[in-house]
Amino acid sequence: MNYNEYKEAVKQLNIYAYHYYVLDDAITTDEVYDKLYHEVLSYENEHPKELLSDSPTQRVGDVITDKFEKASHLSRMWSLEDIFNAEDLEAWLKKTYKLDENISFYCEPKYDGASLNLIYENGELIQAITRGDGSVGEEITVNVKTIRSIPLSIMHKERIEIRGEVVIFKSVFEAMNRQRAKEDEDLFANPRNVAAGSLRLLDSSITAKRNLVFLPYGIGENTLTHKLLSERMEYIYSLGFKKPPQSAKCKGFEEIERIYETMNKERDSYEMMLDGMVIKVDEISSQIDMGYTVKNPRWSVAYKFPAIEKITTIKEIKLQVGRSGAVTPVAVVEPTDIDGVVVERATLHNFDEIDRKDIRIGDKVIILRSGDVIPKIIKVLVHERDGSEVKYERPTLCPVCHSELLQEEVLTKCQNLSCDARVVNSIMYFASKPCLNIDGLGIKIVEVLFKSGLVRNVIDLFDLTLEKLLALEGFKEKKSQNLLNALHDAKGCEHWRFINSLGIEHIGEVASKTLSIQFGFSWTGATKEQIIECEGIGEEMAESVLEFVRVNLSIIERLHEILQPKEPVQKEEAQENPFKAKVVVLTGTMSESRGVIKEMLEKLDAKVSGSVSKKTDFLIYGEDAGSKYDKAMGLGVKCLTETQMREML
Ligand code: IVH
Repeated sequence: MNYNEYKEAVKQLNIYAYHYYVLDDAITTDEVYDKLYHEVLSYENEHPKELLSDSPTQRVGDVITDKFEKASHLSRMWSLEDIFNAEDLEAWLKKTYKLDENISFYCEPKYDGASLNLIYENGELIQAITRGDGSVGEEITVNVKTIRSIPLSIMHKERIEIRGEVVIFKSVFEAMNRQRAKEDEDLFANPRNVAAGSLRLLDSSITAKRNLVFLPYGIGENTLTHKLLSERMEYIYSLGFKKPPQSAKCKGFEEIERIYETMNKERDSYEMMLDGMVIKVDEISSQIDMGYTVKNPRWSVAYKFPAIEKITTIKEIKLQVGRSGAVTPVAVVEPTDIDGVVVERATLHNFDEIDRKDIRIGDKVIILRSGDVIPKIIKVLVHERDGSEVKYERPTLCPVCHSELLQEEVLTKCQNLSCDARVVNSIMYFASKPCLNIDGLGIKIVEVLFKSGLVRNVIDLFDLTLEKLLALEGFKEKKSQNLLNALHDAKGCEHWRFINSLGIEHIGEVASKTLSIQFGFSWTGATKEQIIECEGIGEEMAESVLEFVRVNLSIIERLHEILQPKEPVQKEEAQENPFKAKVVVLTGTMSESRGVIKEMLEKLDAKVSGSVSKKTDFLIYGEDAGSKYDKAMGLGVKCLTETQMREML
């Protein structure tokens, strides 16, 4: 083989793979593919300098990483607002039509997997980043290169971000679990978790074996000029990406409903799990006009599929003790497959619920699973009883520490602050994602650390050393060092995470952010009046903060000293200017994209809105201004050209 033949062979292998993995339509046999593959491989071994970056040999995943670096998306990754029924759809359409009555829509499945952003430059895949918080995610390029439905190179030279969902097919998931059951390993909970987990494996050779599939659903930064989203997506598919199993362009309520019904009816027959249908405004110009709320595009919505119900039997009722001491009953049910997920437990909320529904052990029940939520029991099939069912007796003692339980309204609580379950769960919470996000502190490890006496509270975590860990059963050098590194990385965390990790009752992620931004490091000194003034914080929450600070101030200070959180940056108020605190609407073509002008105005503290109303202070218009200009004139809103606006500044 010479260099030209090598190049041709790589091209041919990629064509074979495209037909096999993207089009689901093989054009050769494994034997032919393997033979050529080995010829390519041996050429590369002999001429390592000539290796082509899109050679299929680059997909085997022989990279072992010790951690993933953070990376920024070029443009933000949004989430979607959910709707659940025809009424919601009608309301959404009404809002959407307000901005433009002539729009059409593009509908495609909502895949249930893990979102991923691919950045291509000069036609080459240069970075693959998980969604993260929408702005910053983790760079997992080495793992993503093992996914065969993601082209390593594309015929598009300008920089582009291609977004999509990584999924694992239901059949693959089931086969994996059958294998795991045989080997007596823990079963995976659902395909989505496997997809997300496989993307973040440190050993890319394992990712390579997971048969992940990438389904594109959108574009981030780009230089495309198509006027319709559907055209853009066709273009993306033509670059070598997989098409959705079903998609449609349509207009109006009736057509959308019809497509939704069909997709819902056929969802079982698709290879991947779907949890709804996404509706998107097809005209890019209207998308730009409509813009975004803080979290979601206004031009798109996720129409969720109804939850799925199944009949199963209650085998047992177990008790869980949370970090607040609340004891909750959980039904252990006969394992049941609900749309690809094996359900083994259902929440019972509290003991009143068991009485109210008269749930007995041995009962046949209908359970419902919808999206992310833990399955719940919606009905007991009383007529199926044969007399062998056993009534459940409410506990009076904590199942873990055996101290007496107290009834606080609907909650049954263990009062013992040092109850093992409460302490272990507080440590778990401290390390969880929305708190300090300490990798490697799973329930099993926390239990071992706690039982050994090494860690009796969160502060003890930071006194751990390699010697102490190595003395524990099951702690090898690597695992111990990883844990110590993860704990070390928690230092310098964002300040709101620090507040959130304290586990103050009623204070979650959003309230922690508010407290952090509002008061910075002096949040422990805020008065009740000051706290209540914060948006979204009421009296009960404020009291909870004050009480927590009163009891735990020295622990808070000690933890602050250990963690050294970053001082939150206060958003600087813009200087006085004619647009400060004014409602501004942009329309028509301007010298720069409207997004850029919007950002500039927002920096001046203007509120940029998508539609003209009585509340609008200024309309700023460019060329081809249409109905918004007419409406603004009609309402007597002050209309400025872009140049006039700039002059005023
Ligand atoms: S569009 C501009 N389309 O759902 C809006 N998202 O709830 C960005 N998802 O983070 C999303 N299938 O991971 C879009 N056909 C689809 C999707 C889809 C699945 C996921 C995606 C996103 C989440 C939003």
